[in-house]
Amino acid sequence: MILNKPDLDVSGLKIPQHVAIIMDGNGRWAKKRLLPRQAGHRAGVENLRRVIDACIEFGIEVLTIYAFSTENWGRPESEVRGLMRIFARVLDQEVYELHDQGVRIYHLGDLNGIDKNLQDKVHRAMELTRNNERLLLNVAFNYGGRAEILHAIRQLLADGVSPEELNEDVFGRYLFTSGLPDPDLVIRTSGEKRISNFLIWQAAYAEFYQTPIYWPDFDREALYDALLAYTGRDRRYGLLKD
Ligand code: IPE
Ligand code: IPE
Ligand code: MG
Repeated sequence: MILNKPDLDVSGLKIPQHVAIIMDGNGRWAKKRLLPRQAGHRAGVENLRRVIDACIEFGIEVLTIYAFSTENWGRPESEVRGLMRIFARVLDQEVYELHDQGVRIYHLGDLNGIDKNLQDKVHRAMELTRNNERLLLNVAFNYGGRAEILHAIRQLLADGVSPEELNEDVFGRYLFTSGLPDPDLVIRTSGEKRISNFLIWQAAYAEFYQTPIYWPDFDREALYDALLAYTGRDRRYGLLKD
């Protein structure tokens, strides 16, 4: 029997233009099922597919996902290797379907320092999908907010930008997210309540939403719940409500 997707009406909701997700809890999801951590990462990637579909359905324009942090290199070598294998497979197998759906893939982070073969796959995916406009999918991969800020400062200095010329807009243009709107909503799954070096400049005024659900189980309805919570938020940006 094919189950219909339950009706989730977003017409009364405020839809954030840019949602960023810290996809956390793959390891614990697997452990709970007595499976190896790699099975959790595989389930996480399968779930990403569903969440991308839901973002398109709900009218979100930009989705940024935290896939691999600069700190994640410190995990056991076998886990890092397993994750790299998954990314390579996704870039081989899923990109065409995403392209057909009108998804533009963009990478945030430092591609130097990852396998050359994987670098080429990332470049090809970005090139193939560059004119798509339905959903912009930013993949933060070998990404760290502090590394990003240092990278920006190095470039600013190399370009000879003077202290007088520097302001928040100019600085923003040197970040990996140059030209993108700041995230409106940052979601973290798995119950952790920290930012873990993710978009630390850009998320200055993002709304933060956390849920105990492990990432592989964070489905369309869970995303809907996050949007519902976001709708109820009062974004004041330091000002007073009249
Ligand atoms: C998130 O899941 C995926 C990555 C960091 C690559 P984790 O692997 O951090 O899962 P937990 O936090 O150990 O459950
Ligand atoms: C953040 O999750 C990084 C990604 C989701 C890619 P971690 O599991 O690495 O973060 P910590 O260690 O709990 O802060
Ligand atoms: Mg984790």
